[in-house]
Amino acid sequence: MNLIRKNGELTLHGQSMVTLKNKYKTPLIVYDEAMIRNQCRRFHQSLKQSGLIYNISYASKAFTSIQLFKLMQEEQMGLDVVSIGELYTAIQSGFDPNHIHFHGNNKTIEEIEYAIESGVEYFVIDSLHEIENIQRIAQQKNKTINAVLRVNPGVEAHTHEFIQTGQEDSKFGLSIKNGQAIEAVHQIQQSNHLNWYGVHFHIGSQIFDSTGTIETIYIVFDWLQKNNIQIQVLNIGGGFSIRYTDEDVAYPIEDGIQKITEAIKDAAQQHHYPIPEIALEPGRSIVGEAGMTLYDVGTIKSIPNVNNYVSIDGGMSDHIRTALYQAKYEIELVERDDAKDMKCTVAGKLCESGDIIQRNIMLPSTIKSGDTLLVKSTGAYHYSMSSNYNQMLKPAVVFVNQDTDRLVIKRQTLSHLIANDVL
Ligand code: LLP
Repeated sequence: MNLIRKNGELTLHGQSMVTLKNKYKTPLIVYDEAMIRNQCRRFHQSLKQSGLIYNISYASKAFTSIQLFKLMQEEQMGLDVVSIGELYTAIQSGFDPNHIHFHGNNKTIEEIEYAIESGVEYFVIDSLHEIENIQRIAQQKNKTINAVLRVNPGVEAHTHEFIQTGQEDSKFGLSIKNGQAIEAVHQIQQSNHLNWYGVHFHIGSQIFDSTGTIETIYIVFDWLQKNNIQIQVLNIGGGFSIRYTDEDVAYPIEDGIQKITEAIKDAAQQHHYPIPEIALEPGRSIVGEAGMTLYDVGTIKSIPNVNNYVSIDGGMSDHIRTALYQAKYEIELVERDDAKDMKCTVAGKLCESGDIIQRNIMLPSTIKSGDTLLVKSTGAYHYSMSSNYNQMLKPAVVFVNQDTDRLVIKRQTLSHLIANDVL
């Protein structure tokens, strides 16, 4: 993180956060562009070192925007999209469809048609029902579609249960254990309009180390070999953790990728199986720590012997993760580096008691209305999960570089809020 204090005030790449706030208004999401690029390069470098053939796709659900997608192309990243909306945004950004793959546990007919017409590299198939649908639509369009199957390996990642995906009781993937995965492979292989391409798994998100991934790799190779299935691509998903607070460990990318790629080599050797192309789908680890949110402080309410509520000019409309996952964040007062001597709760301005950014956090008692708060590590799953609840406006997003800042998403205006209303 290139965030440092100069004369007490927070700056990013030397640029004053107060100046940014005055220029773009709050709430404002600010990204350190160099850090996003650096995260992409760390994954590339680590995979290059393994000597394996690989592909990295950014999981666009973490933060979707035209300018980010352009940046991803510059950094030789592919894209993982999960809806017609994400795919549309990617196409509008000029992204090469041949480096996009299409996910989702319930792809609609409209989505399948659009993705086929767009020419995505492959579909990640998630159900037997979907095989039928894609096969039928591909036949109508006289196309052959590359099919990767999302398998459920039955491995539980140690993370919040809402972002776990690999356990047996999951809406994602087809189970290796109960035989549905192999049934799906056979159906795909028998189809005239599907090209059997590979296997995908994703065991969860915000995973701190490679243990679960490695366990899954051995399960998958064992299954492939026992069933005599050949694949071109093995996609191991995303889920690499970031640091929100001291309770977290940022995924050790270099070390973790080395361990994972060694495990792939070892599993392939043990099973006398050729090593396929390896695909990764990191989302949070690419953009999460690079992003931060600036808010203006408004009302400060002290309830004697109970709590101090510091309210800001955004809330769960742009920051839902605390309400949804009891997520924790670090928060800094931008203007001054005063001692953090006051326990308080930073609250949003929406009409819900659960609209909290952080409970029981220490901030300077000198904090006053008009000051600016900076919430760290809000680059992933904040803007992309934002809403217009309470008719709140979605914030602007800015990329900051060494000596420039550039607007990548404009703040919504009031007219956006009624744009679809029938007047
Ligand atoms: N690939 C697949 C198939 C996924 O389902 C996901 C995330 C990723 C890749 C990227 O995972 P990442 O590297 O970003 O952890 N809203 C939640 C996270 C949901 C993740 C959903 N899938 C949050 O704010 O923590």
